[in-house]
Amino acid sequence: MSNLISHSAIWAALKTHQAYIAPIHLRELFALDSQRFERFSVKACGLFLDYSKNRLTADTLDLLQQLAVEARLQDWIVRLFQGDKVNNTEQRAALHIALRNRSNRPILVDGKDVMPDVNAVLDKMRQFSDSVRDGEWRGYTGKKIQSVVNIGIGGSDLGPAMVTRALKAYHHPRLRSYFVSNVDGTHIGEILDELDPETTLFIIASKTFTTQETLLNAQSARQWLTDKLGNDKAIAKHFVAVSTAKDKVIEFGMDPANMFEFWDWVGGRYSLWSAIGLPIVVMIGMDNFEKLLDGAHQLDQHFETAPFKKNLPVLLGLIGLWYSNFFGANSQAVLPYDYSLSLFPAHLQQLIMESLGKRVTRDGDRVDYSTCPIIWGAPGNNGQHAFYQLLHQGTHCVPADFLIAIESQYQLAGHQDAVLSNALAQTHALMMGRTPEETKQALVSNESLPHRVFPGNQPTNTLVYQKLTPQILGTLIALYEHKVFVQGICWGINPFDQWGVELGKQVASTLLPALQSNEADNVEHDLSTDGLLKYLKAHRYSVTRFS
Ligand code: F6P
Repeated sequence: MSNLISHSAIWAALKTHQAYIAPIHLRELFALDSQRFERFSVKACGLFLDYSKNRLTADTLDLLQQLAVEARLQDWIVRLFQGDKVNNTEQRAALHIALRNRSNRPILVDGKDVMPDVNAVLDKMRQFSDSVRDGEWRGYTGKKIQSVVNIGIGGSDLGPAMVTRALKAYHHPRLRSYFVSNVDGTHIGEILDELDPETTLFIIASKTFTTQETLLNAQSARQWLTDKLGNDKAIAKHFVAVSTAKDKVIEFGMDPANMFEFWDWVGGRYSLWSAIGLPIVVMIGMDNFEKLLDGAHQLDQHFETAPFKKNLPVLLGLIGLWYSNFFGANSQAVLPYDYSLSLFPAHLQQLIMESLGKRVTRDGDRVDYSTCPIIWGAPGNNGQHAFYQLLHQGTHCVPADFLIAIESQYQLAGHQDAVLSNALAQTHALMMGRTPEETKQALVSNESLPHRVFPGNQPTNTLVYQKLTPQILGTLIALYEHKVFVQGICWGINPFDQWGVELGKQVASTLLPALQSNEADNVEHDLSTDGLLKYLKAHRYSVTRFS
């Protein structure tokens, strides 16, 4: 007897139910129920979610909730919040909720309350960021800091970069923020070209402090700074580190006093709430960062306590699963009609795909159903003029989340009305489509009729909020974090490890010396890789340094 959820009676019931729903167009679902919008919308934590434009009925939701019960979601939520080692393959808790535990209730890991350490690091972040912002913290030559460069990758980059971008309206007027992640020298090279070493602060962000890309970029930054300022002593005034690995920070040549700590129970893609948020704090100030934490905490409480039928992460998680497993939807789009959220899809790509892109259950059994959809997206209106063609008339079912800010950061005449009307127009058109009969009426001749017909029936969620404040942003991010948890539990997989990134790293470590050596290679990979290696070696150019 298999333990897989797909072998349960409720899964079979959902399959049968899907056969009933599949031929029904969303138009019909609306026509059948004048209360559909009221019935399938919910308001919580400053967010309004309209999920009525989904291919579901009240029966669908009942069945999906039974699936969550079958997966023992409620027990798992309790385990997550009480600090159990829910990350079983690494034997770790996943306590991003402790980082924003504004109630300060004790949360125990191995019998020890983690809150005093969390609060101590938050205090240190406040002191440091205040001194940089006030101009008390000076560079080696006595000048105030003007540029803050975060060097990190993955979770040590995407979350902080996204939040810093999103909260630009809250930035300190003197400070400019930069994020270096790519190991291609062009990334750091282009940024360093713009900077004055006397007024630049580098934040080296790496949970492990072993990540190749980050360490190489950090070395290049250090070299650049000491070359320009002519003294190694300048490092202490221009470099701070954020890490769980104090010994490695010291080994790198940095003063541990300039290190901000976090812990192994913080996953990389869940780490922006920890000291990894330092580049955010320096730009927006600790008071605003605390509002970000408040927003996430509010959503945490909602997730922990709201009944499944009114629970935003549960609803989004189950609706997403409905399409992945029962409609064969293999991707999901995130479409913010809020330019400040330009980097939100990129952050969600790591958060969701690194968490759920797995093929075995937490016990190591191969699943026989799809897990993570491919996540993609771009800010609304831009996307309309690029890939929405596929959403409207392509062959894929692409469930999409529309995120709509009622107010923009800039009140320019006419702009926000254009944003809002386009967002509404898109979800309406995706849902309704245009029948051949309706199309005929709009055309002069019938010649291009099939090209002008829109099938509609594309499902969307619409999430509305007043304005992107730190608080609302915290709520939004936490919403997707918990949606990931819901899906991980229903699929029986561990959303907190990422073994899939290891193999590439290992192979790169054998290819690097082979690429650098002048001798014939004695490591064999495969004929293609060996052939490409030879070709690259034959065409290499010499290393250039920063001038
Ligand atoms: O390679 C993937 C990964 O391990 C991510 O999970 C992580 O966010 C990123 O690398 C960066 O790791 P670190 O913070 O240890 O440098």
